[in-house]
Amino acid sequence: MGMKIAVVGATGNVGREMLEVLHERAFPADEVVAIASRRSQGTEVSFGDRTLKVQALENYDFSGTDICLMSAGGVVSKEWSPKIARAGAVVIDNSSAWRTDPDVPLIVPEVNADAVEGFSKKNIIANPNCSTAQLVVALKPLHDRAKIKRVVVATYQSVSGAGKEGMDELFNQTKAVYVADPIEPKKFQKRIAFNVIPHIDVFMEDGSTKEEWKMVAETKKILDPKIKLVATCVRVPVFVGHSEAINVEFEDEISPEEARDILREAPGCLVVDNPAEATYVTPYECAGEDATYISRIRSDPTVDNGLSLWVVADNLRKGAALNAVQIAELLMNRGLIGKKKAA
Ligand SMILES: NC(=O)c1ccc[n+]([C@@H]2O[C@H](COP(=O)([O-])OP(=O)(O)OC[C@H]3O[C@@H](n4cnc5c(N)ncnc54)[C@H](OP(=O)(O)O)[C@@H]3O)[C@@H](O)[C@H]2O)c1
Repeated sequence: MGMKIAVVGATGNVGREMLEVLHERAFPADEVVAIASRRSQGTEVSFGDRTLKVQALENYDFSGTDICLMSAGGVVSKEWSPKIARAGAVVIDNSSAWRTDPDVPLIVPEVNADAVEGFSKKNIIANPNCSTAQLVVALKPLHDRAKIKRVVVATYQSVSGAGKEGMDELFNQTKAVYVADPIEPKKFQKRIAFNVIPHIDVFMEDGSTKEEWKMVAETKKILDPKIKLVATCVRVPVFVGHSEAINVEFEDEISPEEARDILREAPGCLVVDNPAEATYVTPYECAGEDATYISRIRSDPTVDNGLSLWVVADNLRKGAALNAVQIAELLMNRGLIGKKKAA
């Protein structure tokens, strides 16, 4: 028998993509329910060829729901995920609310699938930050081969990472530039049209931003606590697709050719890297795609055993919706949903 899936935040950037991915991958659900805030109650969202009427979170009864894909922000998740989990659904949450909770597994299926077994402590599983997801997919196979000591990463993050308001702001500001209308930043700290902003989420006491801290903490939790990582996270005027310039220092020697061969075979990775023909991937080309694309693999001669890479992925897919649906598939394929029900 198929399952009952609820998507909370179904009218948002990630929620809409979740519905798309569930449909595309023919997830075996008997019923898919779209849920958002009271503002959206009664509106419609697409699910394949059908439309679903949006229901309001506060009025919805989650008993009988097997999996809840949650993408309505941290505040909503803090309040609602435990309630939904108590009603019996496994919550797969996209916000940062639960990622560092030791009783909540933080999962990227290509990297740490086995950790999913710990979900039953709270009945909640966390999805990582979009920038972390694509980073660890690319690093894991290289770490297995040559052990990573240190990572230096600069991100180039698209506005869709800041929700639908972020996309609207880039669109409206870009139009305003052409007609010489005044520009007033609302969602972003500064003008985003024809600009870049080295500031995502709030500043921490040590001068880094919370987005940068998340990449450090989440990489350690998912991949290896011994890896040292420093990040600079930058918002760029791109609608969809996050890019990352990454420098990696390994314990063991590894050549660019070997790294390319390893990544070609690695789950979730696609290597597009031919300097002779100037072949590499940009975020525009990866929008709507599932893979984590890796280009510009080369030696970093400034350290022993160093490599530099360029990694690009669709932040709404691998960075959010696809990863969440892959976690749901993992639960199902390992019989963990059935086990919980039988217990
Ligand atoms: N975008 C990304 O690349 C990305 C990646 C990883 C994780 N995430 C995380 O995923 C979450 C959603 O992001 P997004 O980009 O989809 O944001 P978004 O486009 O702004 O959508 C937010 C969604 O949350 C719903 N919502 C807001 N308040 C609610 C409430 N009180 N009760 C029920 N639903 C409520 C909204 O419903 P209404 O339309 O009714 O307001 C909407 O469906 C965030 O936690 C974000 O950090 C995003």
